[in-house]
Amino acid sequence: MDAIRTEQLTKKYDLGWRKGRLLALDKLNLHVHEGEVYGLLGPNGSGKSTTLKLILDLISPTDGSAWLFDVPCNNVVSRLHVGFLPENPYFYRYLTGAETLVFYGKLCGMSGSSLKQRIEELLELVGLTRARDRQLSGYSKGMLQRIGLAQALIHDPKLLLLDEPTAGVDPIGSKDIRDLILRLKGMGKTVLLSSHLLAQVQDVCDRIGVLNLGQMILEGDVKSLISDQRRLSITVQDLPDDARARVEEAVRSAGASIVSVEHPQTTLESLFLEALKKDERGMGRHD
Ligand SMILES: Nc1ncnc2c1ncn2[C@@H]1O[C@H](COP(=O)(O)OP(=O)(O)OP(=O)(O)O)[C@@H](O)[C@H]1O
Ligand SMILES: [Mg+2]
Repeated sequence: MDAIRTEQLTKKYDLGWRKGRLLALDKLNLHVHEGEVYGLLGPNGSGKSTTLKLILDLISPTDGSAWLFDVPCNNVVSRLHVGFLPENPYFYRYLTGAETLVFYGKLCGMSGSSLKQRIEELLELVGLTRARDRQLSGYSKGMLQRIGLAQALIHDPKLLLLDEPTAGVDPIGSKDIRDLILRLKGMGKTVLLSSHLLAQVQDVCDRIGVLNLGQMILEGDVKSLISDQRRLSITVQDLPDDARARVEEAVRSAGASIVSVEHPQTTLESLFLEALKKDERGMGRHD
C-alpha cells in the first residue's frame, strides 16, 4: 500500500476576472511508499506547496484524485494519521513552546497526563526542552521550525508532510532537522518533504521527484540518480609520482580514459560544521 498516491492530480488557479487560469499542477501521478522519505524538488512556483495542499484537501483539485493510505483525500478520515508542517507556520507569539504544543495537542483531542508526557517527549526529540518555557516571540527561525515539527508530530502520525522544513535555518539547524527526519524514518514514519536545497535532500531522501511548471520532469532513487555508472573514482592517499604514472598507463592500456585527476574537495558545509565543532565555546546557538 502506498502512503500517498495521486492520479492525474491537476490544479488550475483562477486568477480573477479576464485573467484566465494558471495551471499550477499538471496530471501528477505520485506514489510515496510507506516508510520512505520522498523529496519533492523544484524551483519557486513549480507546484510543490500546491501538491501538499491538495493531498491534505486544503484546496480542491481541478481534476484527478489523491489517496492517503488508500483513503480518498476528501475523506476526513484520511488525515487522522498525518502531521503537517506548512511553508510559513504561524504561531501565537505569546505562547511558550510547551503551551504551543498543549494548544495543538488539544486540537487533536488529546489531554491530561498522556498529552503532558507526549509534550515532554517531543520537546526532547526536537531539542527544545531548555527553551520550553520561553515565548515563541523570542525563538530563532530554527527554533520555530523545530517547534513546528513537534506540532506536526503531536498525535504520533504515520505520515509527515513537511513544506520546506529547513527554510531559513542555518547549516547546524538544518543538519539537526535532517537528523530528526532520519530518526523519524527509523521509527517507521513516512515523510514527504519539499525543498529547493538539493544538497540537503540528497542526505535524507530515498527517492526524489522534480517538478517544473507543474509537471514531474525527473523521478527516481537518489543513489542511482546521482551515481554515474560509467565512471569510477578511486581516492588514494600518499601515492608517489612514479606509481601514479604507472596507474595512468594501466588505465590507458585497458582502453579506458582518465576524465579527471584532482584532490578531493570537502563541502563548505562540512568545513563550517567542523570549525564550529572545534570551537570550545560550543556551537553558536543560544537555546
Ligand atoms: N492561491 C493561488 N492563486 C493563484 N495562483 C496561485 C495560488 N497559489 C499558488 N499559485 C501559483 O501556482 C504556482 C505554484 O505555486 P506553489 O506555491 O505550489 O509553488 P512552490 O513550488 O511551492 O513554490 P515555492 O518554492 O516558492 O514555495 C505558482 O505559479 C503560484 O504563483
Ligand atoms: Mg512552496
